[in-house]
Amino acid sequence: MAETQPISIENARGTLKVIFSEATTSEERVRCAKLASTAFGKPLTPERYLEREEYLASHPLARGTGWRWWCLTLADNPEHVLSMCKTMHRDLLVRDGSATGGETVVARQEQGYCICSVVTDSNYRGRGLASVLLKGVAEWLDGPGNATASILYSDVGDFYVSKGWDILDSFESILTVPPSVPQKGQAQFPETRPLTTEDIPRLCERDVESLKDDFQKYDLPKDSVLVTVLPTTNMITWLQARIAYTNNQSYGKTPKVTGSICESAESWIYWYSDLHHRKIIIQRVKPPRGQDEATSTRVLARLLLDTIEAAAKLDLLEVDIWNPSPELHRAMKLLNSELGIKVTNQKRESEHIPCLRWRGGEKRSIIASPNEFYPWS
Ligand SMILES: CC(C)(COP(=O)(O)OP(=O)(O)OC[C@H]1O[C@@H](n2cnc3c(N)ncnc32)[C@H](O)[C@@H]1OP(=O)(O)O)[C@@H](O)C(=O)NCCC(=O)NCCS
Repeated sequence: MAETQPISIENARGTLKVIFSEATTSEERVRCAKLASTAFGKPLTPERYLEREEYLASHPLARGTGWRWWCLTLADNPEHVLSMCKTMHRDLLVRDGSATGGETVVARQEQGYCICSVVTDSNYRGRGLASVLLKGVAEWLDGPGNATASILYSDVGDFYVSKGWDILDSFESILTVPPSVPQKGQAQFPETRPLTTEDIPRLCERDVESLKDDFQKYDLPKDSVLVTVLPTTNMITWLQARIAYTNNQSYGKTPKVTGSICESAESWIYWYSDLHHRKIIIQRVKPPRGQDEATSTRVLARLLLDTIEAAAKLDLLEVDIWNPSPELHRAMKLLNSELGIKVTNQKRESEHIPCLRWRGGEKRSIIASPNEFYPWS
C-alpha cells in the first residue's frame, strides 16, 4: 500500500485518524471488496461478489492499472477499511469550442476515469469519510492520474456536487414489453440480424471512427466543450462480462444475443440483459448513416423492436434507454403510434445520475454526447 500521512477527521463524534491510500495487493483489495459487497453485492452472495471482482480484474479494461482501488483505513489498524472507491480507465473524446469561432479545433482522445463503488462502513457514515476519500481521489486525478475529466453515477442525489462533480442530463425512456410482441410484418421495417459478442470488436472500431467524424461536424457553441466516453470494445465488453457473470451465478444462464444490427443503414444497438431487475438496458445505439429521416426512424424502430422481442423472450418487463437522441424519440413515437408500444419518458431522479468533474474542478460549459449507458460502472 502506498501510504500517506494520517489525516485527522474531527466532528461531534470525536476524532478519527485515517490513512488515504491505494489498495494494491490482493489482500487489500479483498478487504475493500468485502466492504463494497455490503452495499453493491446484490443479487450475489458476498462470496460470489468477491469472485466476480476477481474475475473482472482480468478483463482488458481492468488489467494492470486500468482499475485502481482507493481506501481510507484506520491509522492504528490498517486492516480496517472504513471507506473505499475505485477508479476505472475511460477513453474520452474531447473537442473544445473555438474561442474565436474561426478555426476548426480537432477532436482529441484524452484520459478519463469513472469513479465507482463509493462506500463507507455503515458504522462510520456521516463523519466525513467519503468526502475525505473523494478529495484524495480528486487530487490523484488532477496529478498522477492526468485525468482530463472523471465521471461517476450518483445513487445519492447531489452528494457529489459539493465535491466538484456536476450533474449531467439524466433522462430516460422506458419501453414496456407488451404481453404479446407485435409482428414486424404489421409495418414495414428494414432487415436486421442478431449480434453476439464476436461481432463487437469490428463494430466498435467502426463506431469510434464514425463518432470522431460526428464530433468534427458538431456545431459546437463558442467556449463549450464536447465530450464523450468512446464506445471501445473494452468498454462495451466490460459491462457484458459483468452482467453475464451475475446472470450465470444467479440464474444459471445469460443470453448469447447482445444486440441487433441493420447492415444496410450501418446502424446497430448493444444491450445489457439484467435478469435480476427484469429489464434490458440499451448500452449504445450507433445511429444510421446516409439515410433520409423517415428511413432512419424505421431503422431505429426496428432495432428497438428487436430489443423488445429479446426482452419478451427472457420474460423481462421493460427496455430502458438513457438520454435518447431526437432520432430515437422519433422511432419510439413510431412504435407507439403503429404498434401500440407504451413509452414513458422521464428524468432519472434517484439512481445512476451521471456527474462529471473537469480537471482541477474547473467549471466548463460541457456538452456530453452521447451520454448513454455503456460507460456506466
Ligand atoms: C454515500 C456514502 C458513501 C457517504 O459516505 P459518508 O462517509 O457517510 O459520507 P460523508 O460523511 O462524507 O457525507 C455524508 C453525507 O452523505 C450524504 N448522503 C448519504 N447517503 C445519502 C443518500 N442516500 N442520498 C443523499 N445523500 C446522501 C448526506 O448528505 C450526508 O450528509 P449528513 O452527514 O449531513 O447526513 C455512504 O452513505 C454509503 O456508503 N452509502 C451506501 C453506498 C452508496 O449508496 N454509495 C454511493 C453510490 S453512488
